[in-house]
Amino acid sequence: MTSIPTPTAPAPDVLRCAYMELTVTDLAASREFYVDILGLVVTEEDENAIYLRSFEEFIHHNLVLRKADTAAVAAFGFRVRSPEDVDKAEAYYRELGCDVRRGNFTKGIGDAVRVLDPLGFPYEYFYEVEHVERLAWAYEQQGAGALVRLDHFNQVYPDVPQGAAYLEDLGFKRTEEITDEAGTTYAAWFCRKHTVHDTALTGGDGPRMHHVAFSTHEKHNILYICDKLGALRKSDAIERGPGRHGVSNAFYLYLRDPDGHRVEIYTQDYYTGDPDNPVVSWDVHDNQRRDWWGNPVVPSWYTEASTVLDLDGNPVPVRKREESSEMAVTIGADGFSYTRKGDTEHGFKIGSQL
Ligand SMILES: [Fe+2]
Repeated sequence: MTSIPTPTAPAPDVLRCAYMELTVTDLAASREFYVDILGLVVTEEDENAIYLRSFEEFIHHNLVLRKADTAAVAAFGFRVRSPEDVDKAEAYYRELGCDVRRGNFTKGIGDAVRVLDPLGFPYEYFYEVEHVERLAWAYEQQGAGALVRLDHFNQVYPDVPQGAAYLEDLGFKRTEEITDEAGTTYAAWFCRKHTVHDTALTGGDGPRMHHVAFSTHEKHNILYICDKLGALRKSDAIERGPGRHGVSNAFYLYLRDPDGHRVEIYTQDYYTGDPDNPVVSWDVHDNQRRDWWGNPVVPSWYTEASTVLDLDGNPVPVRKREESSEMAVTIGADGFSYTRKGDTEHGFKIGSQL
């Protein structure tokens, strides 16, 4: 795989992942999932789109649901430090030869740059934004499962080292990774804000969107969401979890929305803001890397993901991953893993003892 050149133009100063724009096929069904069940706050809506935010957010939205014929991802939105950083983003991607558009793409956000980045993902960079009320103290409006922040994106991409080098050139800092002794990198996590990640790369057929994650304050908020889905007889929206991640140390739950877009509910990862923050490297054979309690990952979690769109709204073609996939390593016919490294007597073959 060829590497992506490092531009001579300075990279924009990215603050954080800020919003995702999803296309959805049934706006009413998506509204029921994100508003009625998960409790996201409606900033604004019309017959074609719903603009949602989390309870601690003060910018216009963290999620845009836009009605379309097919379900996909139209933008991964990042906020930058200043208006000049929007100019920097434009120059940076023009030097890379990417499709670059400048303008106003959604309600609530001013001057922005949208690009189809070298990996094939639609990224947006903006500074100007409409401020709205921060509802952090509005406990009378918050249910027991209140989503308080947008935490991160997760992207599926076939060549993780190539994608990682591009993100690191952009100023993202690697915090964790999953590798093996042969040198294959299966996944990696990258931050700008001082948490474990703003985005991550999961090795697989891509470019595709693996999930978008919202934070709760506590573990019990996640358990309440599970109970609520059960009470509503919507437990089939639960794909994986609840559980504790090894990577990130966060408590998690994965849901699928009515179009199959994957949403993670996430809480309690750790501080990563020091410049010498150590990178945590997990062996792909360690059963506790994806779930600290050793629960197996469901196959759909490895194989299914959302289509991403180019800047004209067309699906970006998906490229096959050539290196071995994490699922093949861990649950394939010959996939041995371990719970205690070096303890071969207790090594076991996933699938044979479950
Ligand atoms: Fe995640």
